[in-house]
Amino acid sequence: MTNSRIQHLALRDRIMSAEDAASLITNGTTIGMSGFTGSGYPKSVPLALAARIEAEHAAGNPFKVKIWSGASTGPELDGALAKADGIEFRLPYNSDPIAREKINAGEMNYFDLHLSQVAPMAWQGFLGKLDTAVVEVSGIAEDGALIPSSSIGNNKTWLDQAETIILEVNRWQSEALNGMHDIYYGTALPPNRKPIPLVRPDDRIGEKYFRVNPDKIAAIVETEAPDRNLPFAEPDDVATAIAKHLLDFFAHEVKSGRLPASLLPLQSGVGNVTNAVLTGLMHAPYGDMTAYTEVIQDGMLDLLEAGKLRMASATAFSLSPEAALRFNRDARKFHDKLILRPQEISNHPELVRRLGCIAMNGMIEADIFGNVNSTHIMGSRIQNGIGGSGDFARNAYVSIFMTPSTAKQGKISAIVPKVSHVDHINQDVQVIVTEQGLADLRGLSPKQRADVIIENCVHPSYRDAIRDYYRRARQTSFGKHAPTLLNEALSWHQRYVETGTML
Ligand code: COA
Repeated sequence: MTNSRIQHLALRDRIMSAEDAASLITNGTTIGMSGFTGSGYPKSVPLALAARIEAEHAAGNPFKVKIWSGASTGPELDGALAKADGIEFRLPYNSDPIAREKINAGEMNYFDLHLSQVAPMAWQGFLGKLDTAVVEVSGIAEDGALIPSSSIGNNKTWLDQAETIILEVNRWQSEALNGMHDIYYGTALPPNRKPIPLVRPDDRIGEKYFRVNPDKIAAIVETEAPDRNLPFAEPDDVATAIAKHLLDFFAHEVKSGRLPASLLPLQSGVGNVTNAVLTGLMHAPYGDMTAYTEVIQDGMLDLLEAGKLRMASATAFSLSPEAALRFNRDARKFHDKLILRPQEISNHPELVRRLGCIAMNGMIEADIFGNVNSTHIMGSRIQNGIGGSGDFARNAYVSIFMTPSTAKQGKISAIVPKVSHVDHINQDVQVIVTEQGLADLRGLSPKQRADVIIENCVHPSYRDAIRDYYRRARQTSFGKHAPTLLNEALSWHQRYVETGTML
């Protein structure tokens, strides 16, 4: 056992099978799971729990659990438990397709919230009691300290708050993760909160390991299983055009003296388009860059290797399978350039504002005044959740949202008269980019914003229709400050729902 990842001898007594560990969980339990964008989530206990739930259902017994996590997990967790009809309630983010279908069918309750707010809300008592934590770690040190895995998310809070702890120790995770983490233990409840002492993205303000009360550890399950790593699409023409508009904008800002030549700490959201922007930065004239962001994607590893990015701070990895292998092979190379923190710190509004992050996030749609919908298709079907986009957008130095100008083979315009759901109010949206162009909305009135969004960002097949809408709105709107035709503003969405196209 000298090679075991469990160096604490007494804790080895608690090693058991995933099935035995899952049998400690009862109907109605609230479970805090590790996991963020498909990394660092438990991979075997949730599967065993799903099998147990199916067996209970087959025997006519009710069995559902409430799942809290960092963000999205993987098919062995959300997918398996949703398929077993085992999730009664889920927070704070989901991208699993089976769980998404259950939520949109009205069969699963889902509380979508800003990712920075999950831990504070749990401490404030707003979310109820946490019974069990199921957390993946990459090892247990001799003194019982837990060596975190490829994501931190809310694990510190789950380990502190849960009555019972189940650990998965995953040998697949690189041993070089040891020392990459920075767990801040200085948060408190009002009126005792203090400033968080982080003033640069590379500041370390915490500890390398999770503290844990060993008496609470009821089970340890050893695994050797990969994270859910999804491939990124090669940037297509649309993603490349969006990236180019954004890089032109950065060049303009640097030239105007509004951004330094190393830019400001980058935050890059999830998805192919944001990854394409990182790829674009490989060929841009910026060096000594930093990232203060939520997840580390392939593009960031490339920038780190090329020496363009000095360091990156995040709460999790979100890599393609190839990049994950590359990271596991070369982890020592990245060791001093990466810091993983709890998500309440990686996404903290105080820190995002202080550091002056450049926030770059994807969106579903924007309206002509610059309100952004990141979550709800046709106002009612949730796609993923707001994630950290709101944490960054409101507090960023400059807040950028991007999307292809159309979706579903051109049948949907991503720029609409009015968004069907609002995640980011226009005051939090400073730049909108599509492959058609970029709209810089800083300092503009609603009418000025509408002019620049319509002329720069709308796809040609929708441009005449939106110009016509806006012309008539300017003539007959109840107020002339933000001209709106109330009976028509959502008619594009209604047309799509009824006919399958907004055209
Ligand atoms: N209307 C209807 N559907 C739309 C749409 C629109 N305007 N825009 C996109 N979609 C659909 C796509 O067709 C696709 O559907 P499919 O899965 O059935 O093919 C789906 O939404 C995802 O779109 P895609 O083009 O693949 O975008 P993406 O991977 O860049 O993700 C978001 C875009 C908005 C879904 C994603 O960025 C997100 O979840 N954002 C919120 C969370 C966030 O910003 N996190 C980062 C913070 S750090």
